[in-house]
Amino acid sequence: MIARFAIALLITCTMQGQESAKSEKLAPYYPTPLSIVERMLKLGELKPNEKMFDLGSGDGRIVIMAAQKFGADATGVELDADLWKQSSEKIQGLGLKKARIIRGDILKQDYSTADLITVYLLPASNEKLKPVLEKQLKKGARVVAHDFEIPGWIPEKTEHIEDDGEGRSHTLYLYRR
Ligand SMILES: C[S@@+](CC[C@H](N)C(=O)[O-])C[C@H]1O[C@@H](n2cnc3c(N)ncnc32)[C@H](O)[C@@H]1O
Repeated sequence: MIARFAIALLITCTMQGQESAKSEKLAPYYPTPLSIVERMLKLGELKPNEKMFDLGSGDGRIVIMAAQKFGADATGVELDADLWKQSSEKIQGLGLKKARIIRGDILKQDYSTADLITVYLLPASNEKLKPVLEKQLKKGARVVAHDFEIPGWIPEKTEHIEDDGEGRSHTLYLYRR
């Protein structure tokens, strides 16, 4: 799985020159399987009406499940215009009032109200994100990282899923500030 992700990263890096000079594409689009999304949100102890943010929200699946199944106030941040449009339209079509996708750079948002942050990024992206989260997150806020740790942070819990049913293994890390 990590090899496939690395190949996608290479393609992303090649394409970086074509991206906006202001914002860096920190990871390729590689969706989390829905069964793993649910495990991330459970590991993150997401409760109704809590504020959650998925950083690099792709097709919006984490945001949608957080609002639909967990009753959270859910926000995605996505740089890619097509993914932003597709996920925003899906949320609108589902009539989810407490979900939205911001089109923007994850390094330039305000997470000070967040109860839970989810990330599926790369080690170098997590390294860049770390000071933003350290500066902004309130005490007790949780962060769930999929497959790649936040360098230097000590996870409170680690969950390993050997096979997601499609032959992919996953590791989830729970951090509490
Ligand atoms: C590995 S995918 C994860 C998608 C989704 N969170 C999931 O788990 O299914 C990473 C996402 O981050 C987005 N992304 C990369 N750099 C970004 C940035 N600087 N700001 C916002 N989104 C970004 C990519 O477009 C992609 O959709």
